[in-house]
Amino acid sequence: MSQELINELRSFRHRTLDELLDFAWGFANGLIGPWQVRSEIRALLELLAQRQPRAMLEIGTANGGSLFLFCRVLPGARIISIDLPGGAFGGGYDESREPLYRAFALPGQELHLIRADSHQPATRRQAAALLQGKPLDFLFIDGDHTYSGVQADFEMYSPLVRREGLVAFHDIVVVPPHIAVGVDVHTYWQRIRSHYHFQEFIENPAQGWGGIGVLTPAPGSPVGDRAGAAAATGPATGPAHAALAATANVPAPADTAVASPAAGASNRTDGSRAERDPGNHPLGPGAAGD
Ligand SMILES: C[S@@+](CC[C@H](N)C(=O)[O-])C[C@H]1O[C@@H](n2cnc3c(N)ncnc32)[C@H](O)[C@@H]1O
Repeated sequence: MSQELINELRSFRHRTLDELLDFAWGFANGLIGPWQVRSEIRALLELLAQRQPRAMLEIGTANGGSLFLFCRVLPGARIISIDLPGGAFGGGYDESREPLYRAFALPGQELHLIRADSHQPATRRQAAALLQGKPLDFLFIDGDHTYSGVQADFEMYSPLVRREGLVAFHDIVVVPPHIAVGVDVHTYWQRIRSHYHFQEFIENPAQGWGGIGVLTPAPGSPVGDRAGAAAATGPATGPAHAALAATANVPAPADTAVASPAAGASNRTDGSRAERDPGNHPLGPGAAGD
């Protein structure tokens, strides 16, 4: 990784979210291009900018695109990002990219890169140790996109999120098998979201990939109360997310696997062009196209 590029990235400062998004996609011919629909990640970044999480964990670093954006909107935060040293769903990243990713960190920010399988207990222990007993305020799940993979990530890492924290899932729209075999975040999302308040950022439910769903437990609301009740009978000190992970731990009926997102639930954001190419979305080795 050239020092010149790293310096260019380090010295970049944005004034508006659109400047930031333009830079993320345009820098060095897409070197860190986010695997996101622009309007959807923009909506998530706006939410984060309001909430200003102090500690966050991303599962799925890939090219570093979403990580770069999170770093830039969360000054002062502790940020952890996990990815395989190389593998499924478009494949992790090489060690040689680490200096570039480390350059994402702003002064006063703590950035930790974990190159390991998120499903390994040792990886979770490593992440928990980095938090030094403090909870996460935001968890972004964008790693293993199979039903069992996304479920494992939620069940393992959501207990680290504080009760009022946010948990976001990427690729909540139906991904047809001709784009990526085995990808089924959608079904898990449809099941888990009924236990929470949630928001969805979906540019177009028929786009074939993408879509961001955010769980936002609201204490005092009916869902919050239900969460509280579940927490009381669930793991000893687990927050709402932890207890509810267990309630969603049921294999999905096959007939829900291709259900479309409820049209009314979509929260579309307009006014910005989509940086997306569903036919070329790098969901991984299964992304054969047709
Ligand atoms: C769709 S990409 C992430 C895109 C990135 N968040 C962005 O928006 O630019 C998914 C990533 O998850 C990683 N991944 C898949 N399974 C994983 C696992 N079990 N543990 C850690 N990372 C995993 C893949 O290696 C891949 O780099």
